[in-house]
Amino acid sequence: MGTIKCIGILTSGGDAPGMNAAIRAVTRTAFYNGWRVKGIMRGYKGLITGEINEFRSESVSNIIQRGGTILKTARCAEFKTPEGRRAAYENMRAAEIDALVVIGGDGTITGARAFAEEFDVPIVGLPGTIDNDLSGTDSTIGYDTALNTITDAVDKLRDTATSHERLFFVEVMGHTAGYLALNGAIATGAEAAIIPEAETGDDQLKTLIDNGFRKSKNSAIVLVAENPVTGGAMGLAKRVEEEFPQYDARVTILGHLQRGGSPTAADRILASRLGAAAIEALKEGQRNVMVGVRNGETVYVPFTQALSHTKCVRSSNIELVKILSI
Ligand code: F6P
Repeated sequence: MGTIKCIGILTSGGDAPGMNAAIRAVTRTAFYNGWRVKGIMRGYKGLITGEINEFRSESVSNIIQRGGTILKTARCAEFKTPEGRRAAYENMRAAEIDALVVIGGDGTITGARAFAEEFDVPIVGLPGTIDNDLSGTDSTIGYDTALNTITDAVDKLRDTATSHERLFFVEVMGHTAGYLALNGAIATGAEAAIIPEAETGDDQLKTLIDNGFRKSKNSAIVLVAENPVTGGAMGLAKRVEEEFPQYDARVTILGHLQRGGSPTAADRILASRLGAAAIEALKEGQRNVMVGVRNGETVYVPFTQALSHTKCVRSSNIELVKILSI
């Protein structure tokens, strides 16, 4: 693969607020450097079906404030096969795309790594997921907005929980990680967070009940990370009904609400910085790296490291929720 003159950009997997800001930053920085940009629709699917459009500067006007992704997104089973990736490569070459910028989470970076192993294509990834579960970056695009959405929702639930003196289990997303639940609990002053990372053999629900969350209050809000390991909010409420019938428990599952909405300033800034850094990375000859941010600095994280699941929730934050809820 020679000098880069044209890049392709796509968003894949679950959408995340700030993806549009990232698309804008990648596109404008590429133009600034004299490169062409082609927008690939519906993630890897569009690469396979050849849904590829030439971008102009106006293609990304007025999108920094919009949630979702103008490029649409999809989870593509075909790209997991060698035949699918071969078709994607051929379409990419036919469209004269020299390098790719892919924006998404775990599945997107996994797809990029497989593609890069088979074909001589420079690829740079941007972490775009509300889950914050990619290693090597302190935050992912969309995480801060989702946390703020959770905070707004739980503030509202607090009013009714207090009035009725009820126990609320609020289930939040996060895939296999508990970042949204744990930091959502801190931000809302929740009485507890039940997260997969804290499943160390202790029964988190029993501990919560035994500690007597009613010591000083007549209501409680517990943030629960979606995950079979935690039992999810429904599973926990069922257990309360059977094992602790003295409590009046209710369930709220925030679901896909958490993926929508206008990105926060923090997410727009992160997406803008990382989008520009993706082009810098390609200019420097970097390939097969995700651009992240650590301690305020942009960093290049090899795909395998980004996918290593070595980033852990801060254990002192688990303690903090307990301390602050006495
Ligand atoms: O990865 C983002 C995410 O929102 C996860 O938190 C969640 O488990 C999953 O996507 C839901 O995926 P879908 O929108 O395909 O149901």
